[in-house]
Amino acid sequence: MVHAFDPSSRSKLTHRDLPRFEGPSLFHAVGRAICEAECLPRKELFEAWEVARRIRRRFRGGRVVDLACGHGLLAHLLLVLDDTSPTAVAADVRIPESAAKVTAAMIRAWPRLAGRVDLQALPMAAVDVRAGDLVVSVHACGALTDDVLQRALAVGTRVAVLPCCQDAKIGDQGSFGGWLDAPLAIDVERVTRLRLHGYTVRTEQIPEAITEKNRLLLAEPPPA
Ligand SMILES: C[S@@+](CC[C@H](N)C(=O)[O-])C[C@H]1O[C@@H](n2cnc3c(N)ncnc32)[C@H](O)[C@@H]1O
Repeated sequence: MVHAFDPSSRSKLTHRDLPRFEGPSLFHAVGRAICEAECLPRKELFEAWEVARRIRRRFRGGRVVDLACGHGLLAHLLLVLDDTSPTAVAADVRIPESAAKVTAAMIRAWPRLAGRVDLQALPMAAVDVRAGDLVVSVHACGALTDDVLQRALAVGTRVAVLPCCQDAKIGDQGSFGGWLDAPLAIDVERVTRLRLHGYTVRTEQIPEAITEKNRLLLAEPPPA
């Protein structure tokens, strides 16, 4: 018997979880691939999926640049959901050893991904970000999210972030600190900053049952 299970759990998905992903949906196909990899915390699957599908509703194509990528699942999913993105770079100062298992499992399930996701063990400052890229990041802690936004702003390209760990001491709360709690003020100020650069910004949320850090910011530069 299959019980409902908590999508915010950090326990690793393994073969034992395969019965939970027996349906015909694309998400279940991804779930099966990730169970085969036997290394990814359950929460990361749900987060990456919910972020990826929302990004792809708004932003098609472009090279994907996943900064502070962890296992890099988001980069893989963005290519699965939109094959018009030719390649992805997924960069993190510390790529987990098990990231290779995620890549292998995703390629087994979608052979067309082979050779298209480049995992780079680099600080985001060293990643080559170009106009036309789709810059994404899930839970780049605190000011790292600002660094992600800055990398995209510097070349005027699209960006999507799911921020976390906003730091009330150093985060820019703009004029909003008197009305909004600090994490929200910091995120609202991020939207303001992007809009001042002419960006169109959408705000969405992924389900709170997966993570309380669920605010998704999607920003697109003005037409050239
Ligand atoms: C909370 S984890 C999020 C990982 C992944 N995006 C996810 O959702 O599972 C934050 C990540 O940021 C990475 N990181 C920290 N500083 C970084 C930097 N300067 N450049 C790139 N990655 C960095 C860490 O190694 C860690 O993997």
